[in-house]
Amino acid sequence: VTGLRRILLVDDERASHAVLRRTLGNEFAIDSAYDGHAALGVLAGPTLPDLVLLDVHLPDVGGYEILARIRSTHPQLPVIVITAATSVDGAIRATALAARDYLPKPLDVTRLRRVLGDVFAAAPGWPPERGIPVGAAATLVGSSPPMQELFKTVGRAARSAATVLITGESGTGKELIARAIHTYSERHAGPLIAINCAAIPDALLESELFGYARGAFTGAENARSGKFELANGGTIVLDEIADLAPALQAKLLRVLEERAVTPLGAPAPIAVDTRIIAITNANLAERVSARSFRADLFYRLDVLRIEVPPLRHRGTDVALLARHFLGRERSRLQRSPLGLTPEAERRLHAHAWPGNVRELENVIVQCCVRALGDRIGAADLPIGLGDDGALAIDPQGAIDAELERLLQRFPGDALERLERLVVAKALSLTGGNQVRAAKLLGTTRNVVRHRIAKYSI
Ligand SMILES: Nc1ncnc2c1ncn2[C@@H]1O[C@H](COP(=O)(O)OP(=O)(O)OP(=O)(O)O)[C@@H](O)[C@H]1O
Ligand SMILES: [Mg+2]
Repeated sequence: VTGLRRILLVDDERASHAVLRRTLGNEFAIDSAYDGHAALGVLAGPTLPDLVLLDVHLPDVGGYEILARIRSTHPQLPVIVITAATSVDGAIRATALAARDYLPKPLDVTRLRRVLGDVFAAAPGWPPERGIPVGAAATLVGSSPPMQELFKTVGRAARSAATVLITGESGTGKELIARAIHTYSERHAGPLIAINCAAIPDALLESELFGYARGAFTGAENARSGKFELANGGTIVLDEIADLAPALQAKLLRVLEERAVTPLGAPAPIAVDTRIIAITNANLAERVSARSFRADLFYRLDVLRIEVPPLRHRGTDVALLARHFLGRERSRLQRSPLGLTPEAERRLHAHAWPGNVRELENVIVQCCVRALGDRIGAADLPIGLGDDGALAIDPQGAIDAELERLLQRFPGDALERLERLVVAKALSLTGGNQVRAAKLLGTTRNVVRHRIAKYSI
């Protein structure tokens, strides 16, 4: 019969197959596999199922291993995990491996039918509609077109072994995305090691990354493995890669070329099998032009590029994320608002979010503490947030305190002093280019020139 959705049931219990045929046989075409190898055989064959129902207790290959393999070979294929044991651990593992759902045995056919309905209503199984689960606790939330596109790239990156470069403004979720790539990759069972290249002094960073041999320097009483070695079989995340010192850039390049690290003072390199994910919120290509970042290293890192869009380009994701963080706070705090008023939601939407998701997360956390009603209202939001852009630049109130001091210390002169500061800052950001400074300020070059003279900038 054409037109029926195909379900592949993977289960060693013959009775389950009989039950499924009897109950759903008229609505779905049901294929059977009684062990893991047979299942992989079907998936390698010409007729792919639309969905896999997978019992995780199989006589040959472990069900989670099958699930991981399906994820890497058929990332779009929805899988529903079934098992006799209703273990939380099972649910977490299934979710981490992007199973669409998790059902206990014996199968409740009504529930199964509802789950199948959900899956097939939302046509492609990947990316999931509202975001992708990343490990046990986190979800990468996003249903806007740019994020759905990005999730597809994440899926592709997870399937390949290539080095990944993640770029994007601060707070857009780059670290979470790095973690998602690891979680959905074949290496998910291996270690995920992250290191922030900007947070560690250069002198220490080298031994942190590459390790050292015993006696490599005074005090090195025992050898110590570097992060690359620790990440063997897994993924290493090099955060803030733009800040890597030139000497270390050269060493990292060698590691990428040779797939081996030489610990400080060690006689020979050690081979490492590690997927590398580099993260930066700087424009690396610009750093290359400015000669502060090696071009050859840049090209080695920029194999698979993932550009994370700023929150202001994600449309309705703002509300989706706000509700996500609200839900999280609600399960964390005793008392916490249940939702947002339409006006509050409108303001969140109107705000430009220079600090991206991190800023939104902070705003919601603060609101949960502050809000008195059962919904967050416009009055609970930071002053000016989304209010026709009034003070939207300062949702955290960072400038607020400074403004107060300025007004108190320079009564009668505050506005001019502030103007001088803003104009001078715009000029310094544009390297003294008056036209570009004027653009930033939203005024004309003449005005800028006039202010430069007036304030002797
Ligand atoms: N799509 C998302 N869904 C849910 N939470 C998110 C999402 N994106 C970011 N977050 C949360 O926002 C915060 C900032 O994310 P993250 O640390 O990954 O940003 P980043 O891009 O690495 O920022 P920076 O460049 O400043 O290091 C984290 O708490 C993260 O969990
Ligand atoms: Mg980060």
